[in-house]
Formats: sequence, C-alpha cells, structure tokens
Amino acid sequence: MVCPGLIDLHSHLRQPGYEEKETISSGTRAAARGGFTTVCCMPNTNPPLDNQTAVEYIKSTAATEGVIRVLPIGCISKGRKGKELAEMGELAAAGVIAFSDDGEPALNSYIMRQALDYSRAFGLPVTDHCEDTILTEGGQMNEGVVSAKLGLRGIPNAAEDIIVARDLALAQLTGGWIHIAHTTTEGAVELIRRAKEKGIKVTAEVTPHHLTLTEERVIGYDTNAKVNPPLRTERDIEALIQGLNDNTIDIIATDHAPHTEGDKLCEFALAPFGISGLETALGSLMGLVHKKKLSLPTLIAKLTSEPARILGGKGGGVGTLAVGAPADITVFDPDLEWVVDTKDFASKGKNTPLEGEKLKGRVIATIYQGKIVYKDEATKGAK
Ligand code: DOR
Repeated sequence: MVCPGLIDLHSHLRQPGYEEKETISSGTRAAARGGFTTVCCMPNTNPPLDNQTAVEYIKSTAATEGVIRVLPIGCISKGRKGKELAEMGELAAAGVIAFSDDGEPALNSYIMRQALDYSRAFGLPVTDHCEDTILTEGGQMNEGVVSAKLGLRGIPNAAEDIIVARDLALAQLTGGWIHIAHTTTEGAVELIRRAKEKGIKVTAEVTPHHLTLTEERVIGYDTNAKVNPPLRTERDIEALIQGLNDNTIDIIATDHAPHTEGDKLCEFALAPFGISGLETALGSLMGLVHKKKLSLPTLIAKLTSEPARILGGKGGGVGTLAVGAPADITVFDPDLEWVVDTKDFASKGKNTPLEGEKLKGRVIATIYQGKIVYKDEATKGAK
C-alpha cells in the first residue's frame, strides 16, 4: 500500500528538558519508523513551550536534527499551571498549530473560556486533556472491577465526561474550536456526537492503545500499560470505533509518551503515565482492519487527510498524494506479520505493553519530501 505520509497530531518529543526519555532526533526517527512524516509535539517540556523562544528552539532543532516535519503545540497557560493565559498571540505568530496544557487539563473554566475566545481569532484549536483532576487524585487505572481486584485507585469515566461536557459548553459560548485529546469513554463519544449535531466547533482524537487494549492489560501490574487517560473497557472501545466510523471522532493520534526503563521499573503507583506509541501505531491499528472493525480507507483517512484538514494549510499541504503536494509518502505491507521488539525501536522510550506481541501490518518505507527517511531492513519488505 502506498499512502500519504502519516500525520500525528499528538506526540511527546520531550526536548527540551527530558532528553533522557526522548529527543527531537530520536523521536522523529521513531516517527519515521512508524510511517509518520509529520508530528505535532506537545508543550509539556521543561521549560514548557509557552513562549516564542521555546517554539523557535523546537523549530530550529527539528530543522537540524529531525528527519521529518515537526509542528509545535503551544501552552494554553503560562508554565502549564492553569492560572494565567500564555501569550497566545505571540505563540500563534511563532507558528504553533494548536494550544494545549496536555498532561494537565485547564481546570479553571474562566481560563478555558479565555483560551477559546483568543484562539478563535487565530483560527487554531484548543486541545484539552479532559480530566477532572480533583476526581482522579491518586488514580492509577480505569475505575471498575479490575481496579478493585488489583487494589489500585480508579479513574472513573466521569472524570473525562465532566470536562468534555464543560469544554463543549464553553466552545458553544465562545464560538471557539475545542479539540478533545485522547478520547476514551463511551460518554465522551456521545457528548461529542451531540455537540457536532448542534454545530459546536469540536474535533476529537483517539489513540491506537485506547482502540485496541483494555484495562485487563494492567493485570500483573505492568507499568507499561499505565497511561492517562487509562485503558478502559470493551464497551468503551466499541463506542470509540463507532465514533470513528460515523466521524464523531475525526482522527487517530498516538499520544506517544516515551519514558526511560528506570522511570517505569518501579511499583505501579510510582510509575509515570505513558506509552511509547509511534512505532507500533500502524501495526496495531491494522488489527482493527483485519477484524473488519474499520475499513482500510477510513483508517488511512484518520491518519492522513483528516489530521491534514485540522492543520489547514499549516502543514504545507500534507496528507495527500496530489500533484504539487510535498512528497511525503508511506509504503506499508498490510499483511506482513512481525513481532514487537523494543530493541529495534528508534525511540528511547521502550515503554510499550506490546513487547513480544505479533502485529500484522508493517511499514516498509517512509519518504519525507522526496527523501527516504526509513527503509525496513529487517524484513526487506518480503513476506
Ligand atoms: O499517559 C500520558 N502521558 N498521558 C498524558 O496526558 C501525558 C503523557 C506524558 O507526557 O507522559
């Protein structure tokens, strides 16, 4: 299969500040291995991307050390503290493609209202990490029978649904554009569906892991299955897939969240949240195609033309194979089986619950602006 280069609207490249977890160099190489030619990086770096200098730093580092396109996302609030708006005009002028305090919600509704008001003027979305952190304090995994059995504090679906409902109300109030990050609950899908029917300006994403893995993965206390929002239930997965198929959910984004082995090698409650997802995204999502839950054209649209639509012109005309578009191209074999081995990962983050898992569907080559940036040497593309 030959398709436009994949686009990820939600990645953590960790630079500056957490280079032991990932850098722009390693993260973009991981993206290329996963078939991505554009990644949008989240601002929860240290310092956070809440000013023009920080954004310029990402752009210049990506130009010299990256192998694919990196588009930065700027903070909603100064220092991601949720107290005072970041200089959104300055960030927009510097070229951010969205605003987000990802990892943290903008819990203060007045700040969120202002962010939606301002971002409207720039035509940019506000991407919210929807979590009522008062309700999730100390939460480790999805709240339910499994969390009760494991003795881990739960994160209820309601914590997501409450903030999604609030954000949709604020988008309606302001006319601003809310983008719901990593949707995981049946309730959130339904809220977004109704909001779209009412004409509220909302777009939404879902991750490969929330579409393919359930809370059961946490049994055995595998810290590599600890992610925020948490892996949910089969019922939520069914709702998410239906949401993709009826376009309630616009795109699939990885929420690639690399951590070091040391970070994750500890008791469950102490481990950070996050899954390293760029290199397994296409392989695991192809499982849904093989099971006939998603059609191949739908899957590819959710990874290419749909995120390009959200980017508008800001990706420079990516997400299409049209004449005149950048020659960003992904070649993959939909039927090639392979076993996930994190030793092969280009990402510094080996934190995946899929280690040793067999996936069907493998990236063969990734071409960025006419140049081959990844070629599968392990299989030589052979069946
Ligand atoms: O699991 C997660 N990890 N969820 C987030 O929202 C943040 C991310 C990270 O930065 O590690």
